[in-house]
Amino acid sequence: MSLSENIGEVLISEAELAEINKRLGAQITADYEGKNLFVVGVLKGSLVFMADLIRHIDVPCELDFLSVSSYGDGTSTSGEVQLIKDLTCPLKDKDLLVVEDILDSGVTLSFLLDTLSARHPRSIRLCTLLDKPARRRVDIHADYVGAEIEDKFIVGYGLDYAQKYRNLPYIGVLKPEVYEAE
Ligand code: IMP
Ligand code: MG
Repeated sequence: MSLSENIGEVLISEAELAEINKRLGAQITADYEGKNLFVVGVLKGSLVFMADLIRHIDVPCELDFLSVSSYGDGTSTSGEVQLIKDLTCPLKDKDLLVVEDILDSGVTLSFLLDTLSARHPRSIRLCTLLDKPARRRVDIHADYVGAEIEDKFIVGYGLDYAQKYRNLPYIGVLKPEVYEAE
């Protein structure tokens, strides 16, 4: 099976993703001029986005990663978030930029905001590639948003369905029969 044969529609092309990264990188560079940034990637979904985004950020960056679980293999959140891999250093006096693939119900990022704020960083901002506001369950807004999208289950460019499709180079809408069949 090829990955792309299960994709019904290309939602955001590689060229559009490149434009998004350029725009967000310029915005972040301007906002953090003269500072050092501590970029926190939320594994695994933010991997591809973060790798591209940081190359458009022209201030010194430290990188670290954490991982949370809440989804299982389904297409909507269970509502319970757990930190399953933590950062490796203290956050005191750091300017944090949390990078996420998608802001959906908001449960994940609001959990991370609470957890990381409690460690007293100097500042904390959220950057998400995609925002699906239709499904929000908690009141949370990202400071940097790549694109707002409709309520469709999408994959690619880091985002998965049952751990697959992360290596698709664009964002696509999965054909519903792919997950309805399971
Ligand atoms: P939230 O806690 O509901 O905001 O969910 C955020 C997480 O859900 C993201 O980090 C993704 O891993 C996952 N997620 C939400 N919507 C999608 C989607 O359309 N495709 C793939 N993963 C998604
Ligand atoms: Mg994720």
